[in-house]
Amino acid sequence: MNNKVVINTDIEKSKINKNIYGHFAEHLGRGIYEGIWVGEDSPIPNTNGIRNDVLEALKNIQVPVLRWPGGCFADEYHWKDGIGPRENRKRMVNTHWGGVVENNHFGTHEFMMLCDMIGAEPYICGNVGSGTVQEMSEWVEYMTFDGESPMANWRKENGQQEPWKLKYFGVGNENWGCGGNMRPEYYADLYRRYQTYVRNYGDNKLYKIAGGANVDDYRWTEVLMKNAHWMMDGLSLHYYTMPGEFWTGKGSATDFPEEEWFITLQRALHMNTLITRHSAIMDQYDPEKRIGMIIDEWGTWFDPEPGTNPGFLYQQNTIRDALVAGLHFNIFHEHADRVHMTNIAQTVNVLQAMILTEGEKMLLTPTYHVFDMFKVHHDASLLQVDGQFDQYQFGDESLPQVSVSASKDKDGKVHISLCNLDHKNEADLNLELRGFDLSASKMSGKILTADKMDAHNTFDQPEHVKPVTWTDVKTEGQAISAKLPAMSVAVLTLE
Ligand code: AHR
Repeated sequence: MNNKVVINTDIEKSKINKNIYGHFAEHLGRGIYEGIWVGEDSPIPNTNGIRNDVLEALKNIQVPVLRWPGGCFADEYHWKDGIGPRENRKRMVNTHWGGVVENNHFGTHEFMMLCDMIGAEPYICGNVGSGTVQEMSEWVEYMTFDGESPMANWRKENGQQEPWKLKYFGVGNENWGCGGNMRPEYYADLYRRYQTYVRNYGDNKLYKIAGGANVDDYRWTEVLMKNAHWMMDGLSLHYYTMPGEFWTGKGSATDFPEEEWFITLQRALHMNTLITRHSAIMDQYDPEKRIGMIIDEWGTWFDPEPGTNPGFLYQQNTIRDALVAGLHFNIFHEHADRVHMTNIAQTVNVLQAMILTEGEKMLLTPTYHVFDMFKVHHDASLLQVDGQFDQYQFGDESLPQVSVSASKDKDGKVHISLCNLDHKNEADLNLELRGFDLSASKMSGKILTADKMDAHNTFDQPEHVKPVTWTDVKTEGQAISAKLPAMSVAVLTLE
């Protein structure tokens, strides 16, 4: 039994765009309010209203890009409600998410400030479903016009003299569903119309992202590419991982049998098929791969935590989520020539979150630790990896036991990320490094693992699942041998 891998350190493929490690924060449940924004008068320590503990945690993982304000919320969001003195901002009902009052205290200025504080590029999603062309056009003018204009003057009155730099702009969200229940032909026409008035002012050059397909709706991709490919820079794709079914029960985040462990990882691997097939359609119209596939919603979606508002999509996060994240990144790397950005859903307190909060308490989830460990791949060159893997067998079905990806960074360091999907058995690993002098190199490693499938962090035990140094790794000539524990995610660095 062996997992034999050859890492060709001299065969560099595409650059792994750091935006593959992007995030998504929607006005949903406690994602923005409490999770990020507590307000300047809060007893929770904050900087200009943004909680300090979350700020530091996000800075540490070097969030490259942050998508906001939705999600489904985006197609009901009217940006003018969220600017000006906070006490005068309109209060509305968040009809999509729990029917709670949205006081609009976190709006454009607060979002831009957050991005600035954590060093992330803003990615704003505009409203096609219930907004007008004028409204979208004026939002871009408000944010990016440098000079005298009604919107730029208004921005200045609200305290922001200089225009912001804004690159990423989404023209609608899930327009096949919550964003207007449209047919692709109709949305393609609307996309063409709306994007016409989403203008580049001065040297601000927008990267326009068209609302893409749900899961395996290949026809959506085909129609959008055929009718509008030359007017877009990116096309999105949404896919969530769940062991059950969307409407009839997705499965529990923490209380699950072995079978659901297996199914969850099997479904996470489905991302590879989806990217391959949507890419093949995009290739027909864009063989140079100018247009990025932007997977701006992905991650696990389980039943909400019992006792919480079901409209808040709050769920715990276990070592299983860490495996899902690691597998996704290894897949995204492999498609780095087409996948230019992805955004996990969602940053704090919603779905597969990096961070959970409860009042003034905060914890980092196993998923957070994967983002932290994998950040060495940001903007590195993908290396050619060939492997033969043992099978992780469950009943009549099987999956490759191990997932591997490798990159070389600008300093020549080689980073290898590994996942052992098997919930019971360790994986024997043999990694041969072609084109790299192992005898002259220094190796270090980190590993995230657990002894139970549902291991997770709680506010009482916030460090139950956290990475540790991985020392149980040996070099033998030009190869590395190791035993990767069951259900683990690891990263090795050679320098
Ligand atoms: O991330 C939660 C929701 O999932 C988003 O609002 C929507 O776009 C998707 O259906």
